[in-house]
Amino acid sequence: MDYIHFLMLFSCLMLVYSNLGQCERSTYIVHMDKEAMPMIFPSHGHWYSSTISSIKSTHVQQPPEIIYTYDNVVHGFSAQLSEDELHSLENSPGFLTAYIDRNLTLDTTHTYKFLSLNHVTGLWPTSNYGEDIIVGVIDSGVWPESPSFKDHGMPEIPKRWKGTCQEGPNFNSSLCNRKLIGVQYFDKGAKAANLDLNTDNNSGRDTKGHGTHTSSTVAGNYVEGASFFGYAPGTARGVAPRASVAMYKVEAGMDRAVADGVDVISISMGFDQYPLYEDPIAVASFGAFEKGVFVSTSAGNDGGTATLHNGIPWALTVAAGSVDRFFAGTLTLGNGATILGWSMFPASALLDNLPLIYNKTLSSCNSSDALSGVGHAIIICEDESSFYRTDVISNVAAAIFISDNPELQLSSHFPSPGVLISRKDGSVLIEYATKVARLPPSATIKLQQTLVGTKGSPVVALYSSRGPARACPYILKPDVMAPGTLVLASWMPNKPTASIGGTIILSSEFNAISGTSMACPHASGIAALLKSAHPEWSPSAIKSAIMTTANPLDNTRKPIRDSLLNFEAATPLAMGSGHIDPNRALDPGLIYNVTRHDYVNLVCSMNFTREQTKSILRSSYDCSTPSSDLNYPAFIAIYKQNREGTVMTRVFKRRVTNVWDGPSSYRVELQLPKYTKVTVRPTTLVFNKKYEELSYQLTVSYSGGNGSLPAHGSITWTEEAGRKHSVRSPIVIYAL
Ligand SMILES: *[C@@H]1O[C@H](CO)[C@@H](O)[C@H](O)[C@H]1NC(C)=O
Ligand SMILES: *[C@@H]1O[C@H](CO)[C@@H](O)[C@H](O)[C@H]1NC(C)=O
Ligand SMILES: *[C@@H]1O[C@H](CO)[C@@H](O)[C@H](O)[C@H]1NC(C)=O
Ligand SMILES: *[C@@H]1O[C@H](CO)[C@@H](O)[C@H](O)[C@H]1NC(C)=O
Ligand SMILES: *[C@@H]1O[C@H](CO)[C@@H](O)[C@H](O)[C@H]1NC(C)=O
Ligand SMILES: *[C@@H]1O[C@H](CO)[C@@H](O)[C@H](O)[C@H]1NC(C)=O
Ligand SMILES: *[C@@H]1O[C@H](CO)[C@@H](O)[C@H](O)[C@H]1NC(C)=O
Ligand SMILES: *[C@@H]1O[C@H](CO)[C@@H](O)[C@H](O)[C@H]1NC(C)=O
Repeated sequence: MDYIHFLMLFSCLMLVYSNLGQCERSTYIVHMDKEAMPMIFPSHGHWYSSTISSIKSTHVQQPPEIIYTYDNVVHGFSAQLSEDELHSLENSPGFLTAYIDRNLTLDTTHTYKFLSLNHVTGLWPTSNYGEDIIVGVIDSGVWPESPSFKDHGMPEIPKRWKGTCQEGPNFNSSLCNRKLIGVQYFDKGAKAANLDLNTDNNSGRDTKGHGTHTSSTVAGNYVEGASFFGYAPGTARGVAPRASVAMYKVEAGMDRAVADGVDVISISMGFDQYPLYEDPIAVASFGAFEKGVFVSTSAGNDGGTATLHNGIPWALTVAAGSVDRFFAGTLTLGNGATILGWSMFPASALLDNLPLIYNKTLSSCNSSDALSGVGHAIIICEDESSFYRTDVISNVAAAIFISDNPELQLSSHFPSPGVLISRKDGSVLIEYATKVARLPPSATIKLQQTLVGTKGSPVVALYSSRGPARACPYILKPDVMAPGTLVLASWMPNKPTASIGGTIILSSEFNAISGTSMACPHASGIAALLKSAHPEWSPSAIKSAIMTTANPLDNTRKPIRDSLLNFEAATPLAMGSGHIDPNRALDPGLIYNVTRHDYVNLVCSMNFTREQTKSILRSSYDCSTPSSDLNYPAFIAIYKQNREGTVMTRVFKRRVTNVWDGPSSYRVELQLPKYTKVTVRPTTLVFNKKYEELSYQLTVSYSGGNGSLPAHGSITWTEEAGRKHSVRSPIVIYAL
């Protein structure tokens, strides 16, 4: 797991005083009630400065100073404050809440690409590849020289763009162009904390690779001849190859992006386990929603139940799945039999007709001494812990590793020549090496093979964080799943991407990495394409289209499986509504629209204090009709564990809008969750024209007691004639 320095905890008096306690300053984000500003101030900035300079300072050397002011999606500022200074600030007029500026988790666990858009029909040609759309990416910066950010074929920069290309060390503003239209970095917090930024190229330049990868995944230009050391070869491109990118290097980024005029924000990171009013991404994305900006986020890479972050009702939360692609080394035995192995060894090692060695005492492959006598041969290794033992494997020509551990196929790190095969194929191999071969056993391995169309894809990735969202369990999360495992995209040329043995370190312009961080920009790119194709759609219309058309089935038309559940069928708590399906999202038939008022009712139902509520909603709001039953295109019925036999009943109300150009009628189809009765009223919906809105009510009665949870099913509105749209929402029953 990788961290960005989002929290700058430091000690103000470390060198001078021993009594640190109250004077230790941390960076806080302070939310202020904009409407409480006295008339005498010319601007909010002046008011905030005045507020901060009037608080009683406990700091001996300097009074606290404002680091950033926020005025678009958040109202307030950030400043370094000690605890005493914070207490003093809390009594200032207009103060709402303050929370510590903390570490942000970047969602890359391992190393990953794919998507079924085409030039002939559907979302790509209809949206003109995302032309005229601006995607703001909040991430670790960008490597502007990467071929993905060249601007050949790009139209003029959209007129509404108000952002800048900020200069800094190793970052000349002439590096921006019609593809990479803006770069801004926000380092003042780090500077104030005296962090050594020399190592961090204090500019919009990427120092981690993550931001270059995510931004080129959303909207990278076409790059011919891309590959990861011969694997995944082809022409690389982002999901929205004609959209422009603006990079915001963390902190304050979302606020700026909205003001600059972006259409979509992609943010592949999140804050773990904080309430909505203390989660800067949740707060800023509410402001983004109000300005019509779509926000796409990653679910996180913690794998387990209820570990999901960015469980934000007004943002899209994206889970990660596998791609229908397999990186292979083919193994041909002396008797002509072939076995397909997994390999991402980063070179074309020549392994032709070599002796094949199987010896029970050597097969743990854990001792250099034992293997040193083997020579130029291929050894069979049965202990998976030998996979990264380059010191041992370097004694032989190549190794065949036998393991069923799916984790080994999440990363492109494959430092020894050879292949990884399953236990089942392993027994065939050992049988050949020990019994079948009449001549001394031998084998040939051909590396750098890429197979596509793998059956049973996608599978929910092991690492993808699961719902329900602790921040707001009444909204089913994640929303959808997108490709996240071993996605190929641009990287920085000065960072290692692969190694051979223990000592040869390789770099490349592309990297194949895995995480929900890689899934999120796929969804962001699709949102950009949808915005281009349907400029009139609100963020919630785009989100609804993406969710109700997602596919719960894999490419063999069986339910998508979950690699965390031993490849059993996945639940919506792992994959949301299913795998994102861009071409169907273009034409969803019906949408679940959500208005600001609906979100206000939801926030009002959460029993927050007035200050907490105001931190999210900021301007005027009316809490007279609180309701946790949001007009969401997914259902989760949460209940407290009860005695068996007790029936839990929940009633949901929904409104759907016809976005098809003309009359249409739909009838309901249900897939019932276990031990559950579901009734829907009415059971048919007849729309007379475009944009007509109709309502329905769904009642869930669950009688399964404590066992066998979570139960899940779905409701689908299926068009009776005409275009045969089908509008599906998952239903989950969950005991908290
Ligand atoms: C934040 O990250 C830094 C660097 O990895 C680490 O030293 C620090 O302990 C982290 N702080 C918290 C609160 O997790
Ligand atoms: C800073 O950027 C320069 C390229 O302009 C690069 O050569 C250098 O390696 C970068 N430093 C770090 C720490 O990434
Ligand atoms: C930025 O690049 C331009 C064109 O390559 C060059 O003329 C200028 O001197 C550069 N500016 C800085 C500050 O390096
Ligand atoms: C297996 O390796 C051990 C240790 O090197 C050696 O003593 C033994 O003879 C080998 N067995 C066979 C069947 O080659
Ligand atoms: C190698 O693995 C074998 C079998 O697991 C074990 O008996 C042996 O002690 C290990 N040797 C070393 C050097 O770790
Ligand atoms: C969705 O609701 C908003 C009001 O929040 C409205 O402006 C918009 O037209 C609606 N969109 C559709 C497609 O009905
Ligand atoms: C809010 O408080 C009310 C009354 O105490 C309670 O019935 C309701 O369940 C609470 N809602 C939440 C979201 O905690
Ligand atoms: C169900 O769970 C509740 C709370 O954990 C417990 O009190 C109750 O006895 C359980 N009922 C059954 C039938 O297991």
